[in-house]
Amino acid sequence: MMLPAHLLLLLVLVLLCSVFVYRSDGACAEVDSDTEAVAGKGFKLGCISCKRRSEVPGTATVQWYFRPKGEPDFFPIYSYNENGPTIESDLFMDRIDWNGSKRSLDIQDASIYLFNVTFNDSGTYRCFLNRILSYDNEYEYNDEIDKVVHLTVVAKATRGTASIVSEVMMYVSIIGLQVWLLIEMIYCYRKIAAAGEEALREAANAEYLAIASESKDNCAGVQVGE
Ligand SMILES: *[C@@H]1O[C@H](CO)[C@@H](O)[C@H](O)[C@H]1NC(C)=O
Ligand SMILES: *[C@@H]1O[C@H](CO)[C@@H](O)[C@H](O)[C@H]1NC(C)=O
Ligand SMILES: *[C@@H]1O[C@H](CO)[C@@H](O)[C@H](O)[C@H]1NC(C)=O
Repeated sequence: MMLPAHLLLLLVLVLLCSVFVYRSDGACAEVDSDTEAVAGKGFKLGCISCKRRSEVPGTATVQWYFRPKGEPDFFPIYSYNENGPTIESDLFMDRIDWNGSKRSLDIQDASIYLFNVTFNDSGTYRCFLNRILSYDNEYEYNDEIDKVVHLTVVAKATRGTASIVSEVMMYVSIIGLQVWLLIEMIYCYRKIAAAGEEALREAANAEYLAIASESKDNCAGVQVGE
């Protein structure tokens, strides 16, 4: 009796989760960039800045800067504006592709893609988004957004501690929930069983009393008859 109810609840939860995942697909979410690239592979440098008011029309230009590890200064490496994309540093010539918002200058995703990452690409990247919001074509609001990505280049992919911890937590919570469910089921089963016994005992008692009083009545009748 209890199991189907719990399964149903689980099913509903799973359905709800998938609905939320689907709904968040189209909306803008400010996901942080990864920070570990593998040498020789490609890497996406993420930079997402959602508009606070999605209904207000806006345009944005993007400028990426880079400061190699151990060096003091940033220098421009890439820009994206009404003239299109431009690679501005020989270090990255033919190695950067636009991975951000497409077919629109209303840019919320200013991510770029690095091909053939080398160890020299380690360092700090900064993405500047200069956004102009037009309110009813009457006044414009200028917004500067600045995001930083600290990139480490490794020879082989390693798993971040965060990912390991979250996996362990996942198992702990799954097992915890199962145990809790089991305890709940046993508890309920016992309660029902006890209630059933009680009811049986009461019924038996009632029957016994009924029989007893009936036989007393009979006895009385017999006595009266004598
Ligand atoms: C980013 O750009 C690279 C190279 O053009 C492409 O292979 C990759 O699929 C793009 N990723 C996204 C999420 O657009
Ligand atoms: C990346 O490196 C491979 C092998 O060295 C080369 O064939 C390829 O053209 C490179 N890609 C880019 C975009 O530089
Ligand atoms: C990395 O930088 C060093 C020193 O500037 C240079 O000698 C080397 O050729 C660079 N390596 C690559 C793969 O660009």
